[in-house]
Amino acid sequence: MIKWNSKYELGIPHIDEQHQKLFQIADEAFRTLRDPFLVDKYDKVVNVIEELQEYAVYHFRAEEQYMQETRYPRFLSHKVEHDDFIKEVSNINLRAVDEDPEGYLVNILDFVVGWISNHILNSDLKIAGK
Ligand SMILES: [Fe+2]
Repeated sequence: MIKWNSKYELGIPHIDEQHQKLFQIADEAFRTLRDPFLVDKYDKVVNVIEELQEYAVYHFRAEEQYMQETRYPRFLSHKVEHDDFIKEVSNINLRAVDEDPEGYLVNILDFVVGWISNHILNSDLKIAGK
């Protein structure tokens, strides 16, 4: 599981806080998934992944607002990255019946967390001129 650390820091407090929250929600999903004593955990994990998706959309809008306010020159191509991710994730069926539901949900989470991590490092840091 990827944890937030200072290499992800933009130095823009409200965006950094939102990025940390995205990692926290993902971590909660992983912990729920790995809890051997939890009954009905797949429903709970799906709920947390849905929460993660909703929070990502909220966060993208806040980040886009910041880019517009600061007249960030690469705003449009950055927004396309957000929109492509939203489209891709909304096509995932979280409630698909799978013979290995834990593995299936781990793969989805790995994809989402990996995307967020790469996106912060390759695109978001540029907003802060890093
Ligand atoms: Fe972004």
